Amino acid sequence: MSNYLGDIDGAQAPKRVKWTVPLLREAKANAQKLTMLTAYDASFARAMDQQGVDMILIGDSMGMVVQGQDSTLPVTAEQIEYHTECVARGVTNTLVIADLPFQTDSDPDTALFNATRFLQAGAGMVKLEGAGFKCDVIAYLSEREIPVCAHLGLTPQSVLRLGGYKVQGRDEAAAKRIMADALAVQEAGADLLVLECVPSALAKDITAALDIPTIGIGAGPHCDGQVLVLHDMLGIDSGHRRPKFVKDFLQIGGSVAGAFAAYVEEVHEGKFPAPEHEYV
Ligand code: KIV
Repeated sequence: MSNYLGDIDGAQAPKRVKWTVPLLREAKANAQKLTMLTAYDASFARAMDQQGVDMILIGDSMGMVVQGQDSTLPVTAEQIEYHTECVARGVTNTLVIADLPFQTDSDPDTALFNATRFLQAGAGMVKLEGAGFKCDVIAYLSEREIPVCAHLGLTPQSVLRLGGYKVQGRDEAAAKRIMADALAVQEAGADLLVLECVPSALAKDITAALDIPTIGIGAGPHCDGQVLVLHDMLGIDSGHRRPKFVKDFLQIGGSVAGAFAAYVEEVHEGKFPAPEHEYV
């Protein structure tokens, strides 16, 4: 049911085991909320691992919060590979997920090349944005034993075509499209789905329709888990507009480790996200 091994008569804390793809599905089946945060180095990753964060994403958000770029588009596969190595050295139990940056997944062979180097750098899964032709990419990776996290809703690599970082799926046609895409990425072989900036009711319907876990960011409380960007959840000003779904956990936890612990607790207890973090 969880990544905890046995309870030893209360005499000793139960031992955590490393997260795997089957355990994620089991967690969903058991309605166990999942936690994910982004990290880019070994020290933050170690602190997250110690506080029981289930998954760490080396997100291409790195472009905006670490590199000071205006978007995620300049991030390269070499940079994600390097930061994946750093994060992987810091963790014991947490599942490491590496983001395929802009155009590094533009065809199945390019995606396979980059995903393979990320797995060899220590990731246990790769993430990619979109559906459509990306379903072929997902299937290609999945058939070659590479676990894949899909990402729908607001997909930051589409910022130029979307015209900004806007909530997606608000009208009926757009909501239907995202639902159809969600079913399609699952059918293609995705093991996990990040839903970003969509109305809570849509995220709820998608979560109910899928067997794979959904991880929300600005997608309300009904997803199977939550993800936040490290700098956002620590209240660090990265020079970008602070989205309404962000909560400053450093204020609650009082320290970096306390912030991670508070995040895990609030997600598990269903306290985060609260109504003020939701879109309708
Ligand atoms: O790049 C990233 O950090 C992400 C998360 C916001 C899900 O894609």
